[in-house]
Amino acid sequence: MSKGIKKIGVMTSGGDSPGMNAAVRSVVRTCAYHKIECYGIYRGYEGLIEGDFVKMDARSVKGIINKGGTVLKSARSKEFRTKEGRAKAHEQFVKAGIDGFVVIGGDGSFTGAMVFNQEYGFPVMGIPGTIDNDIVGTTHTLGYDTALNTVVEVIDKIRDTASSHNRLFFVEVMGRDVGHIALNAGVGAGAEEILIPEEDLGLERLLDSLRRSKQSGKSSSIVVVAEGDKIGKSVFELKDYVEENMSEYEVRVSVLGHMQRGGSPSCFDRVLASRMGVKAVESLLEGKSNYMVGLKNDLIELTPFDQAVKGKAKIDKELLRVSDIMTV
Ligand code: F6P
Repeated sequence: MSKGIKKIGVMTSGGDSPGMNAAVRSVVRTCAYHKIECYGIYRGYEGLIEGDFVKMDARSVKGIINKGGTVLKSARSKEFRTKEGRAKAHEQFVKAGIDGFVVIGGDGSFTGAMVFNQEYGFPVMGIPGTIDNDIVGTTHTLGYDTALNTVVEVIDKIRDTASSHNRLFFVEVMGRDVGHIALNAGVGAGAEEILIPEEDLGLERLLDSLRRSKQSGKSSSIVVVAEGDKIGKSVFELKDYVEENMSEYEVRVSVLGHMQRGGSPSCFDRVLASRMGVKAVESLLEGKSNYMVGLKNDLIELTPFDQAVKGKAKIDKELLRVSDIMTV
């Protein structure tokens, strides 16, 4: 099966996400299965430039499938964005005899891999790991499902106190440019309103919707806001605006922050990571390069990097409609 590839490197890069360890484990064990040497690269491209590698075998990844974060650590490397940085990275690969690598990360990490491949023809495959689920070519990125479960669990708790005090809560969730977490967790947690960057609801419509909620007999409300939403400057500004215009509401804000990136991965993320790791390594061994592995119609399929990094995965419009119906 191996088209000349004897040593594979694996790294995690960019913002970490639950399931990255399960993916590292899968890459390492698939290499062991095919009798290929595997090297872990610490701290993403930063560690690559410095040659911070560790030899990994099937046993070295024991006990990590259930762990959040990444045992290989992660970083966002400025140096790898320069030609000089990438030249150093290539030297390190040559020195270690590594002839292909798997990068687990988001679109920035894939863009770096693509440029590196164009410059050096170096074989590379990507596994999408980010809680934001913003990558074209996969319905799910690693960590997204876990993050959704975390958010829903926390909102359930916030709802308990919101309803005890008849309060309105703005809950800010992650999603710098996209609203996938906000929309899906919002529907899952029964939010009254969901604010995402893809849909400009506008402050007036938000007030109308909150007024309707009150009139329909709701005593407390949860509004889920994606951090990239643009209708207010910040979630605290939204709070002030609503309090100024609707004295009937006592408003509180809860910013969930980085807790969404941590925790033990869900079963879905562990299984997905295992499947993706196998596909990434076997694709390299088949001589493929410059692709991201992704989940499409429950099949693990390949998407060329240039398509995966082009634009952001689109929001599910039908789910937006479902959300509107649920808050009638
Ligand atoms: O992992 C993606 C993401 O969660 C974004 O939604 C968020 O804006 C960003 O990471 C924050 O990352 P950091 O604090 O690592 O810069």
